[in-house]
Amino acid sequence: MTVYIVYFEPVGRKGECRANQSLLDCAHRLGMGIASLCGGQGTCHSCKIQLLSGTVSAPTGNEREVFSSEELKDGWRLACQTYPASDCKLNVPSESMTTTQRTQVEGLEITVAPEPPVQAYHLKLAGPSLSNPQADAEHLLQELNHQHHLHCNRVDIDVMRLLSPQLRSWKWQCQTSVRDNEVIALGPWPSRQLGLAVDLGTTKIASYLIDLSDGRTLASKGDMNPQIRYGEDIISRISSAIKSPKKGVQLQQITVEALNQLVADLCADIHANTEEIVEAVVVGNTAMHHLFLGLPVRQLALSPFVPAVTSALDIKARDLGLHIAAGAYVHLLPNIAGFVGADHVAMLLATDAWQAEGITLALDIGTNTEVSLIAGGKITTVSCASGPAFEGYHIKHGMRAASGAIERVQLADDNIQYQTVDKAPPVGICGSGILDAIAQLYLAGVINEGGRMLQSHPRVRNGQKQREFVLIGDEERSGQPAIVITQQDVRELQLAKSAIRTGIQVLLDTGGYSEDEISQVAIAGAFGTYIDVSSAITTGMLPAIPLNRFQQVGNAAGMGAKMALISLSKRADGAAVASRVRYIELASAPDFTQTFVQAGYLGRYRIRHGNREKID
Ligand code: FES
Repeated sequence: MTVYIVYFEPVGRKGECRANQSLLDCAHRLGMGIASLCGGQGTCHSCKIQLLSGTVSAPTGNEREVFSSEELKDGWRLACQTYPASDCKLNVPSESMTTTQRTQVEGLEITVAPEPPVQAYHLKLAGPSLSNPQADAEHLLQELNHQHHLHCNRVDIDVMRLLSPQLRSWKWQCQTSVRDNEVIALGPWPSRQLGLAVDLGTTKIASYLIDLSDGRTLASKGDMNPQIRYGEDIISRISSAIKSPKKGVQLQQITVEALNQLVADLCADIHANTEEIVEAVVVGNTAMHHLFLGLPVRQLALSPFVPAVTSALDIKARDLGLHIAAGAYVHLLPNIAGFVGADHVAMLLATDAWQAEGITLALDIGTNTEVSLIAGGKITTVSCASGPAFEGYHIKHGMRAASGAIERVQLADDNIQYQTVDKAPPVGICGSGILDAIAQLYLAGVINEGGRMLQSHPRVRNGQKQREFVLIGDEERSGQPAIVITQQDVRELQLAKSAIRTGIQVLLDTGGYSEDEISQVAIAGAFGTYIDVSSAITTGMLPAIPLNRFQQVGNAAGMGAKMALISLSKRADGAAVASRVRYIELASAPDFTQTFVQAGYLGRYRIRHGNREKID
């Protein structure tokens, strides 16, 4: 029987599927939680999936009833009715999932004095009369300036379109939202002034609803970036947009759709109206920024990797398709370079690393890792192509941090202890688990300093093509295949950690510092939040300095976005940070190749009781 490889996005799980096995059966065998209320009869329509690439069986009668010909053409199918006819990649929409993926929205909470760009004013108007038949917009501006000593001179066109009936229905009393001398929203008095902060990551989106009057976070929500169906990393999405302008438009549209859904969900959580959101701040890496704005991305992929724009931008939300208050703006913090975007500026802002004393390293670990070294008021930054291994890609049993992912591993003698997300039965292994596993195998002598797996352990076996270490045997998985770490998995992790370590080393060498001189390390990002720093040191990914110098700060980019939303001073700080950064193109650094090769070796130290100890 022919066997194909099926990839399930956005969870990042893959596995074998026989030609006579439905995609639903395949998903369930892999431990993926796809809804199947009718048990695969084709009648409940809860198992909708979308084919992104590859070929599958022809649609059944049930599917033709559910989907229009346009939807079928777009790849929409029922997983229980569909069989693979080649290797294929599928998108599983969140409504078809019974398990959710962990998305990082939590981070540092810093109190920022509110100094929002939008101010709310209470206004009472007399209304027109035969003796004073002044037009409504001019009447509003005149009274606003008179009653509140302002200098407003314009009313947003969408506000103007609704203004006359609204003022009459509110009996000439309203709340006026003013931004930079422009009336951008009207509401009944009193209304809330809400703000939206978004960290638009390559893999995940974190969103926050903020009360602009006091800076409190009222609701937060994370979701997967739907662009993932066009490729897991930045380069594949840029390539998609370059190859087909239609795909470039789709990448923008699906991002905005996802943001609109998050806005609706956040507002539903606190019984707010989306029109109460009068300002938004969005941060992301430069590629996400450009794709969100519909800017050209071709030049980002070609040396010298130039962004279309780096300065901060204010854009009407409606011009981007975002459904918030009529005349509201979206503020985008400045980018730094082609592969260092506003999310890194936001991270530096939130951690205050840019003003820190001593020598500070600030890392935002993801498929692309940005690293800054701050010393003596100077900021030097590199971007490292760490790749998607930490998201579970290119790892045999890798997956993202969804329910059932092994996230912690301990090896004591021959016994494996592990912990899974949600304490669910193990399904695969996510980034932090892979990092732990490699560190533990190295300390146990199962792999050597160069990453070679030695056959000196009872759990090491010869797989089909290579050696593999059995983490969980098939006898422990009710007949499902064992979960293993292969020799190739070790190589993938070495490549990823080597990219990060190279970035750190180049920054240290450029400044003339040794790693012992580093006084603090701030690690941001979802993966960075959940890793065991000791394991990262053992693998040689992070410098071997005492543990108390590390701080795992969660989604600091999201926090920075919130700060820039609440405070104009913080927005100005963001611009100052971006202008002070000296960006180094990693590949052009002296001795880059030698540094990269050296950085591939596993570490020389382990951490015991918070301090380093040489590995024998
Ligand atoms: S499981 Fe009910 S339609 Fe597929």
